[in-house]
Amino acid sequence: MCIKTGTGFQSKGSYLFGHFSMHIKLPAGDTAGVVTAFYLSSTNNEHDEIDFEFLGNRTGQPAILQTNVFTGGKGNREQRIYLWFDPSKAYHTYSILWNMYQIVFFVDNIPIRTFKNAKDLGVRFPFNQPMKLYSSLWNADDWATRGGLEKTNWANAPFVASYKGFHIDGCQASVEAKYCATQGRMWWDQKEFRDLDAEQWRRLKWVRMKWTIYNYCTDRTRFPVMPAECKRDRDA
Ligand SMILES: *[C@@H]1O[C@H](CO)[C@@H](O)[C@H](O)[C@H]1NC(C)=O
Repeated sequence: MCIKTGTGFQSKGSYLFGHFSMHIKLPAGDTAGVVTAFYLSSTNNEHDEIDFEFLGNRTGQPAILQTNVFTGGKGNREQRIYLWFDPSKAYHTYSILWNMYQIVFFVDNIPIRTFKNAKDLGVRFPFNQPMKLYSSLWNADDWATRGGLEKTNWANAPFVASYKGFHIDGCQASVEAKYCATQGRMWWDQKEFRDLDAEQWRRLKWVRMKWTIYNYCTDRTRFPVMPAECKRDRDA
């Protein structure tokens, strides 16, 4: 028998740019095969998407935080890190900053990834497709844990993720909107949010050196030519 099940929720509003954050406590114990996602996505065909995906593991084995960015329907930009804490023990803050210059993924305010606007290098950047915020939890034991070797232990169900402190500071737009009326005037558009500061770069470097286990930018088997946007990715 193949049991397929999942759950999720989404924001009512759609947003173009802003800062999105949530405190999440991940399912505990034996969560191999279970994926919990927290992401922004547009609802159209050639969609844009900004993803946090938590890949569960056997009790005592480390979960993986995978991030990805889709632009115009194209993804394949996975990065994977181990966390410096057990994400099932307590709430931690996961947030996304999105403006015309960059997308930054944060864990407890530590930047773990940037995706810089590289339009000048021919890379699409999300700017005209409003996104909703989603979270979901589902069975992905065909790929999530040790490449699909570890199967979901249904005896441990239900798998419960807990959420609080949901916060959006964003330019709310209708699903069809092509631009944000307040762009350039909100806090997340301002100069200090257009790049990381020195302290943030230092912390990102720490994440890359100590916690990163996969980065598509350095995967020459998969991408013999480095994807163009990676050139913006300092130290990649
Ligand atoms: C699960 O644990 C194994 C063994 O420690 C590790 O190789 C793997 O990266 C961990 N995480 C996932 C999601 O597979």
